[in-house]
Amino acid sequence: MTFMDEKAEDRQSILTVSNLSLEFADGDNVVRALDDISFEVRKGEILSLVGESGCGKSVTAMTIMGLLPRHGARISSGSIRLGEQELLGASEGTMRHVRGNRIGMIFQDPMTSLNPVHTIGMQIGEVVRKHRGCNRSQARARTLEMLDLVRIPAAHNRLGAYPHELSGGMRQRVMIAMALACDPELLIADEPTTALDVTVQAQVLDLIADLRKDLAMSVILITHDLGVVANAADRMMVMYAGRIVEEAPVEKLFARPSHGYTAGLLQSLPGAQTGHRSVLNEIPGSVPRLDKPVAGCVYAPRCSFATGACEAPLPPAQLIEPQHTSRCIHPERVYEGIRNTEIVSAWA
Ligand SMILES: Nc1ncnc2c1ncn2[C@@H]1O[C@H](COP(=O)(O)OP(=O)(O)OP(=O)(O)O)[C@@H](O)[C@H]1O
Ligand SMILES: [Mg+2]
Repeated sequence: MTFMDEKAEDRQSILTVSNLSLEFADGDNVVRALDDISFEVRKGEILSLVGESGCGKSVTAMTIMGLLPRHGARISSGSIRLGEQELLGASEGTMRHVRGNRIGMIFQDPMTSLNPVHTIGMQIGEVVRKHRGCNRSQARARTLEMLDLVRIPAAHNRLGAYPHELSGGMRQRVMIAMALACDPELLIADEPTTALDVTVQAQVLDLIADLRKDLAMSVILITHDLGVVANAADRMMVMYAGRIVEEAPVEKLFARPSHGYTAGLLQSLPGAQTGHRSVLNEIPGSVPRLDKPVAGCVYAPRCSFATGACEAPLPPAQLIEPQHTSRCIHPERVYEGIRNTEIVSAWA
């Protein structure tokens, strides 16, 4: 039996984040960007991190990569273990090794990560040379292999192309090739398809899913698009204002949403209906920037299921069913409220 035949929940964890809190000093203000988050990434899975703009998805990725800004960012507690290696507090040399050999990342904006004045052959080649310590012709061969791997047609003709000469989808494939050039155990893809049209988006997601299988790696897929999650991920975590509010295998979470915020995201999908009434395409209000700890539910002021009890200190995450947890104190109320919507019916 290969690991792909195992159930996701039985797989071994490769990355374990425990009680991680992060603050940014912003003048005299402090922003609590991550508030006591814990999760694990299992071998060979695609774990999706989902939530609105500003909820803490990218800073989670940047903290794992050791790429937070030097000034202003403070990790106030927590641990990040990659296998046996503790990453928090590790030296810059260790983190460089981790980034060069164990974790690959596709950054949110490909144009800022690709150098516009160098050809893509040169840029991938440089990563390959650093990682493998090989000479120019070996690096060229490996670069071609990488471009083939990410299904760039006629790869040898593309080595001399500059980033602006490629389509958005091709540029994203180049980014994936660069992230994979170090043979990572874990790929972090931060909004890898946001800038792409729907057809190309589907191709890039298929590519990531295939590569995960072929290379037996794990993927953290960051997105604010629930459609992407439904198509590509095995498990998902919903984030709100720096907290993980719900976590479950994708089909369980879509079939039984158990947090007011998840329900809000599902209802905001185009075409989602509550009974016969079309609902708004956006959750009213915005993600707050927290400057001090909040004991109760941070989403309560925007939540259509909230009661006075939501302001009381939150209990630990509740187990809704095996592998499915929620920080909502009214999971039944949420589920009763949303169970007849099209999106939930489709999964139930
Ligand atoms: N360098 C920084 N200095 C100060 N605050 C920051 C910094 N980087 C992020 N933040 C704050 O941390 C919070 C989380 O930001 P983050 O970039 O992780 O959001 P996100 O979920 O990735 O959003 P998006 O979907 O827009 O990419 C936001 O309130 C943001 O303003
Ligand atoms: Mg982001």
